[in-house]
Amino acid sequence: MNTTGSTRTRTRWPLPDQVATWGDLEAFRASRVESGQWVFWEDRADLVLQARYDDVKPLHIELSPTYLCNFACPWCSCRSAREDWSDDDVFNHPRATPMTVMRKDKLDHVLTHLAEDQVGIMWVGGEPTMNPLMYPAALRGTELGLQQCLFTNGSLLQPKRIATLFDARLAFIRVSLNAVTPDVHQAHHDYDPRRGYAKRVMDNLRALAETGARRQGSTKVGVSVVVDERNLDDLEATAEHLCRLAEKYGHGAVSYAIFRPAFPLNTAQIDMRPDTVDRFLNAVGPDSPWNRRMREAGIDVVVPEQSLSTQNETPADLPVRDDMGCLSAGWFGEITPNADMVLCSDQYGNPDYFIGNVATTPLTALWAGEGRRTALEHARQTSCYTTSCPRNGRGYFFNRIFRQVENLRRQGRIHEVAAWMEDLRAVLPRPTHSFFL
Ligand SMILES: C[S@@+](CC[C@H](N)C(=O)[O-])C[C@H]1O[C@@H](n2cnc3c(N)ncnc32)[C@H](O)[C@@H]1O
Ligand code: SF4
Ligand code: SF4
Repeated sequence: MNTTGSTRTRTRWPLPDQVATWGDLEAFRASRVESGQWVFWEDRADLVLQARYDDVKPLHIELSPTYLCNFACPWCSCRSAREDWSDDDVFNHPRATPMTVMRKDKLDHVLTHLAEDQVGIMWVGGEPTMNPLMYPAALRGTELGLQQCLFTNGSLLQPKRIATLFDARLAFIRVSLNAVTPDVHQAHHDYDPRRGYAKRVMDNLRALAETGARRQGSTKVGVSVVVDERNLDDLEATAEHLCRLAEKYGHGAVSYAIFRPAFPLNTAQIDMRPDTVDRFLNAVGPDSPWNRRMREAGIDVVVPEQSLSTQNETPADLPVRDDMGCLSAGWFGEITPNADMVLCSDQYGNPDYFIGNVATTPLTALWAGEGRRTALEHARQTSCYTTSCPRNGRGYFFNRIFRQVENLRRQGRIHEVAAWMEDLRAVLPRPTHSFFL
């Protein structure tokens, strides 16, 4: 990992994944930088030291300007939100309603309220680009000083829209590519084969890489590949395609590629077999030839450990039930197309976790309100952390870390936690945004 401290004089290193624990340089380098970078938001880190978890406000929220999508990926994480929790089943029968497409007034109010607390925006969905209001809203977000990024299936972009995304200086535009062979792309995303979206996605990804390379601005172009049996055999072809793009437009034109097995969220229909993860790792895992080739082409290849470890969990890895409730919900929220704020972004639009409406109510009032208290109490009573918190997610990771903090507090060792945070700030690179946490 990249570090800021001097490697010559330092003898012990704070380990980002283990609170108040130090190790040698090798142990430090083996850990994930991002897992410790939350300490740079010192106002929130201080609230953690004071055990004021419920007062933490989001670094960014996941904002769905629409639940509509032109794809119907069987494995879609927001399938429940779009199928069961909308007023209509927009997964199978797309229809625009105020509950499924955010209208201009609401979007304006949401941005104003987010700007009051400088909360960043991850544009997600549904397919966020299916709501054309997203483009002017992204420009306004930039005027308001908000950090933003976009997750898109890449099928509906056009040259003018691509230019707008770069004008809005998004931190990154992440295309969910998933496959490059047309019939695999079609099957993995389950759209009408006559639509020919595979070619449009590849053309748009090429245009993004070309624009990024030409403009040399701060907006990175990334690619996501979520894998199950439907696209497993297309991984090498996908890696080769990315290498060609990077070679054509130069190092950094495709800034990063994140590869993960599909995760079994709510009603997501994933097709995983006992050896799927092993075959996935053989194809693009850290020791595979394609992983090396992509890195040589200048692509930062990410295969998140936490997405793999859940596949082979033993009972000893499972979290133990306690009455602490959720300690991490404040850090990352979610906003539905109706502007309802969800307690955290790991509930994927579940109405049981709504805390109030961001179009009508400022964040400060929502944080002090009854809706948030009720949702937090619901998370505590259902022991959400041990029962339904996705174990590959941020919320789960931070709940684990903050429980370690609380154990140390009980032992009278909170000063060690404070020293560990201070030391992390001395050796980790300062993050430019929170989207990778
Ligand atoms: C729900 S999508 C919404 C944005 C956009 N439609 C897209 O596909 O990028 C947001 C991200 O979640 C990822 N995702 C969806 N379902 C998943 C699953 N079951 N496991 C892992 N990642 C998933 C998608 O690949 C995408 O990167
Ligand atoms: S493209 Fe994105 S929102 Fe649409 S179905 Fe696929 S994962 Fe879900
Ligand atoms: S425990 Fe996880 S899923 Fe539950 S509210 Fe907290 S972060 Fe969200």
